[in-house]
Amino acid sequence: MDTRPIGVFDSGLGGLTVLRELARIMPEEDLVYFGDTGRLPYGNRSKDILVKYAQQDMTFLRTFDPKAIVVACGTVSTTALDVLQEENDIPVFGVVESAAQAAAHVTRNGRVGLVATRTSISSGAYERALEALYPGAAITARACPLLVPLVENGRFQPGDIVAETMVSEYLAPVKAAGVDTLILGCTHYPLMKPLMGAYMGPDVTLVDVGEQCARWVKKQLEWNGLRNERPGAGKHRYYVSDSTEDFSAQASIFLGEDVSGEVEQIDITAY
Ligand code: DGL
Repeated sequence: MDTRPIGVFDSGLGGLTVLRELARIMPEEDLVYFGDTGRLPYGNRSKDILVKYAQQDMTFLRTFDPKAIVVACGTVSTTALDVLQEENDIPVFGVVESAAQAAAHVTRNGRVGLVATRTSISSGAYERALEALYPGAAITARACPLLVPLVENGRFQPGDIVAETMVSEYLAPVKAAGVDTLILGCTHYPLMKPLMGAYMGPDVTLVDVGEQCARWVKKQLEWNGLRNERPGAGKHRYYVSDSTEDFSAQASIFLGEDVSGEVEQIDITAY
């Protein structure tokens, strides 16, 4: 039993899709979220900058004495996770491994699609993880840089002509490759599940990396005796590096609940 909080960080709002899953399956855990809203997006940054930002995000979260940290950001998970794991003496979880496990388990034909940010795609992290679990699996990967701003502007519902056009343009080559599994490798894409699912059709299974990661974190905490078994609902605290009003206004899109009054701004460059 360990009642310390779990730290979660992302470049901004998107990681709330991961926090939502963590809170759903482990409601009693205290969660501390940091969104680097002053420096987003991370999705097209170089490895050096990402490592530096992620190190600062980790240092900030470690001031809360967390028992584990979840790297909700797909881009940091694909690019800087090894560095963060090496530098920290607590468990640091990313989203790649558990998503690759789910994809390897689900695929029948070994053809897997991947959509994510530019930096995530160019890292090759999913290819490496999947090859280790399913040798010979073929990944068809597509960077989708325009989907993040679309989601942040609330344009992700089926019937939204702009969102549908973008999704079909990005996913056309993935669909043409005959994949039976599609990894949604970016924090924002779970909100586009209905739209992407409709485009890919009922025979393609969508892997939500946040959902898989949350299940993996829960199992790991259980195996290591780190779960909080105290009855009652855990506390959730939110920190950002830009305006709290903007974050609170948009957070409800990702979380489906109001967080205003629970968000604080910090200077991440001080860490
Ligand atoms: N959180 C990022 C990711 O999952 C997407 C947003 C960004 O580019 O910062 O890769």
